[in-house]
Amino acid sequence: MIYFDNAATSFPKAPQATREALLCMLTNGGNPGRGAHKLSLRAAEKIFACREDLSDFLGVGAPERIIFTQNTTYALNMAIKGLVKTGDHVLCSELEHNAVMRPLYALQKEKGITLDTFPVIGLGDEQIMENIAARVGQSTTLLVCLHASNICSVSLPIAKIGAFCRAHGIRFAVDAAQSAGHLPIDMCAMQIDALALPGHKGLLGPAGCGVLALGEDLSLGTFIEGGSGVDSRSNEMPAAFPERFEAGTLPTPAIAGLAGGLSFVTSFGLSTIEKHEKELFLAARERIESLAGFEVYQRETPGGVLLFNHTAIPSTELARQLDKAGICVRAGLHCAPRAHDALGTPAGGAARLGFGIFNTHRELDALWRTLKDLP
Ligand code: ALA
Repeated sequence: MIYFDNAATSFPKAPQATREALLCMLTNGGNPGRGAHKLSLRAAEKIFACREDLSDFLGVGAPERIIFTQNTTYALNMAIKGLVKTGDHVLCSELEHNAVMRPLYALQKEKGITLDTFPVIGLGDEQIMENIAARVGQSTTLLVCLHASNICSVSLPIAKIGAFCRAHGIRFAVDAAQSAGHLPIDMCAMQIDALALPGHKGLLGPAGCGVLALGEDLSLGTFIEGGSGVDSRSNEMPAAFPERFEAGTLPTPAIAGLAGGLSFVTSFGLSTIEKHEKELFLAARERIESLAGFEVYQRETPGGVLLFNHTAIPSTELARQLDKAGICVRAGLHCAPRAHDALGTPAGGAARLGFGIFNTHRELDALWRTLKDLP
């Protein structure tokens, strides 16, 4: 199989990720923070080491502010629902995934928040910043947006948006589902208050573990309550981070795998990954555009994600034909209908190539041959 669906989840995983997850299951039977025997302590050490590595990699500055969650969606829900109150005004971009939009829609209903979307497609950083500034009002308390889109390779000027939000007393939450492991992130330098990301996409770890990193001066109400391994007589969750937000048993094998994936990404280097993905994008674009009837969206923005369509073949049928030829892509709306509207794809969406560090130019040749011979 040729795998071009790395924006959904990376595959294959980093060899270190697979090894660490397996080793964890073979040798680390303990539940971290739940007991003082050797296996529990060893698991707790592994998990703390992963928090330290993530904190360094993401510029968080405090490992205890790395909170492990089920996935990015869970982390975004924690941040968004923890940061807004009744009547607040929230800003987001026109490219957001449902992981951002649906919690916001729910808050519109439940808390009467108001919501504004700022455009980004076809705009430079300064125009994006002007559009944000034009939408800020007295009751704007949160700006939540993606770092990189899941349907094209557009990324937002996160450091500029962070500086603007800090200057205007607006909390800033970032969905890094498509950028972690692809683009540099420095939470402190970018003035991000809450950062959500997956372990299983660009960081090349297993599914089952996401991350919410919280900025230095930020706390949230608890999202769920339960056992934390400390202060069990208290009726409330502990105040200390990260225990306050990690009720229940952690996914130790997924976290061990994430640590392995992160070490691979760090040793490979983000700039090498970024360069490789851009080269694949340009080569894929050239091949696809050499064929009649195909269109590439956001063709001038190279990166890890390429969105395309055929004028006469629905995207789901394109994906089905590619699958028959052993090529995995994702078609449709990619859980981001508003982003598709912004790009002007048809109602059925488009087909997406999500590149990863293991993809090759030879695989693009196979893609081209299959597209060329489509019935
Ligand atoms: N959000 C992931 C995607 O874009 C699953 O495919």
